[in-house]
Amino acid sequence: MVSVAEYSVALSEELFRVEGVHFRYREGSPWALRGVDFVLRRRRRVAFVGANGSGKTTTFFVLRGLFTPEKGRVAFRGTEVYPAPTLPAREREKLLQSVGILFQDPDDMLISLTVLEDVAFTPLHRGLPWEEAERRARAALARLGIESLADRPPRELSFGQKKLVALAGLLAAEPEVLLLDEPMAFLDPRGRRLLLAILEDLFASGVDLVVATHDMRFVARWAEDVVVLSEGTVLFRGSPAELFRRDDVLDAAGLEDPGV
Ligand SMILES: Nc1ncnc2c1ncn2[C@@H]1O[C@H](COP(=O)(O)OP(=O)(O)O)[C@@H](O)[C@H]1O
Ligand SMILES: [Mg+2]
Repeated sequence: MVSVAEYSVALSEELFRVEGVHFRYREGSPWALRGVDFVLRRRRRVAFVGANGSGKTTTFFVLRGLFTPEKGRVAFRGTEVYPAPTLPAREREKLLQSVGILFQDPDDMLISLTVLEDVAFTPLHRGLPWEEAERRARAALARLGIESLADRPPRELSFGQKKLVALAGLLAAEPEVLLLDEPMAFLDPRGRRLLLAILEDLFASGVDLVVATHDMRFVARWAEDVVVLSEGTVLFRGSPAELFRRDDVLDAAGLEDPGV
């Protein structure tokens, strides 16, 4: 259950409130999320951690409104988006459009013939003229140091390059909230440093960030709030410092103390 302290978070400070959320991929299959509860606050660097299969990716899809829970409630910035029977699907999508999600697998995001078209896709789709969409796309590519990829077909890129292109596509859409699903995976050291700098830059410019990761050094260095998932439930919510004192939680969730 959501704790009393979390209930007292002022509505205006809430990013997401999730209560008792159950989700499964098919009727009759086991729950991927079995009663997930947490409150995420605005203007905090949030990390989700947990072993493979603990429910991080599923949770992000629920937050972005891409998966519908079978039970429970989800609110975004104080507005209930699920079950919210009187909120039309189009209104919910409009609300959640300010939330960008970087998929764990960039192949799920890259659909166009060239990198430039891909990165320009969302601004274009939202009705901007091509010149403005292209300007935003080129700026996003430059910000990530990958302008030289603009004319390449996305499917020919390395995994790390694809991840950066997918991120450029999100930046071009100018999100207010970003959910990043294992953004560091398969990035080289330069890519990681770049990503960290971009995250800081985004956070400073007012974007709320939620990162799912296995990288406990990153959690120790970057996160202010941590949610630990294990087998579709929340095992812990608190600061990284508190988490690293909790050997019981680390053991149960299959996590390592980063030793920093
Ligand atoms: N597409 C899918 N179809 C069926 N089950 C899935 C699918 N994706 C994930 N699951 C299951 O849902 C649970 C949570 O998975 P997931 O959210 O991907 O975990 P994580 O991102 O933490 O590794 C796991 O038991 C996983 O096997
Ligand atoms: Mg995952």
